[in-house]
Amino acid sequence: MNIPPLDLKAQYQSIREEINQKILEVISSQRFVLGSEVEGIERELAAYSGIKFAVGVSSGSDALIISLMALEVGDGDEVVTTPFSFFATAGAIARQRAKPLFCDIENKSYNIDPAKLEELLREEIEERGNSNIKAIIPVHLYGQCAEMTSILALAKKYNLAVIEDAAQAIGAEYPGPDGVKKAGAMGSCGILSFFPSKNLGGFGDGGMVLTDDEKLAHKLMLLRRHGSRDKYFYDILGGNFRLDALQAAVLRVKLNYLESWQHERRERASYYDKIFKESGVLEEGLVQIPEALYRDSGIKNYHTYHQYVIKASQRDKLQEFLKESGIGTAVYYPLPLHLQKCFAYLGYKKGDLPVAEKAATEVLALPIYPELTTAQQDFIVSSIIKFYRA
Ligand SMILES: Cc1ncc(COP(=O)(O)O)c(C=O)c1O
Repeated sequence: MNIPPLDLKAQYQSIREEINQKILEVISSQRFVLGSEVEGIERELAAYSGIKFAVGVSSGSDALIISLMALEVGDGDEVVTTPFSFFATAGAIARQRAKPLFCDIENKSYNIDPAKLEELLREEIEERGNSNIKAIIPVHLYGQCAEMTSILALAKKYNLAVIEDAAQAIGAEYPGPDGVKKAGAMGSCGILSFFPSKNLGGFGDGGMVLTDDEKLAHKLMLLRRHGSRDKYFYDILGGNFRLDALQAAVLRVKLNYLESWQHERRERASYYDKIFKESGVLEEGLVQIPEALYRDSGIKNYHTYHQYVIKASQRDKLQEFLKESGIGTAVYYPLPLHLQKCFAYLGYKKGDLPVAEKAATEVLALPIYPELTTAQQDFIVSSIIKFYRA
């Protein structure tokens, strides 16, 4: 049985006519940059995320950069983030000539550990008198929100901005003290990615910044078109961070299906949980299934399973065995950010952030998408059991 890690062709087939029609409309209009389709998806995603403003941009990576620009985080500043994320999270900080300060993650959720964040901020700000820290970028990894209540309280205490990296977690909900909030709608701003493999993926690159702050939203809109308020007059220094109309049109069609796709992802995850539990490998400690921290809090999108990530002993050998059996898997991420060559100048060494370093040797993302069948899931889990029983 051949099971790809992701099957975008199957998704396209299910909505092909609608998408093709929408694309033709954009082509007929010959309006390809910003315009009504972009305004449409901004309006619709702001409503979906329960936030006032959404600013469409060229990618999730650019959404991070433009957020830092809008918050005036730059040379000499420091930004606290997780070492266990896609490169862009820390790359954006460094691109702004600010310094990433990495805080270790929690073992269960792989998200930034609030206790360690508290310790790091206390040490840096109170004990060392470091006044350069300007912001925190928590990441809602794999589709589950970081513990925002503690993160927001610490940000308030130390007067720091919070940029939520919700690239993997569109629509994920968080049960906070002020009620249920969506990923990206809790910090100073939040970013989304529409990279094709995301839960809401375009036909190319795209991203968005979400915010409730009107001034910030206007600044973001200026920054994405070189800082120009009127054509050829530039108030501030920006760049070309615009979202294409074709991407927006595709996303508007797909947004109508997002909630049912999220539901189907969750159903696939529950089925994996069930068959793993029945298999006996969990008791033997060979495999750990992902923990859904907010499952019992009564919210619908407690996890959006952008990825279904197990911890597996002999991970690399298992991945190779699954590949030989026709099953595509992925490792997000094999080397934490603080140990990447490009960040050697920061001076981190092996052992500094042990939870992230250990996770990098154990995590394995199994195929998860609405089109995945029960038979395929049975085959994946039975292949994993076969590997350990051999
Ligand atoms: C956590 C995280 N942050 C940022 C990004 C960057 O998004 P993009 O690929 O749209 O630039 C991604 C996506 O790849 C991501 O997973």
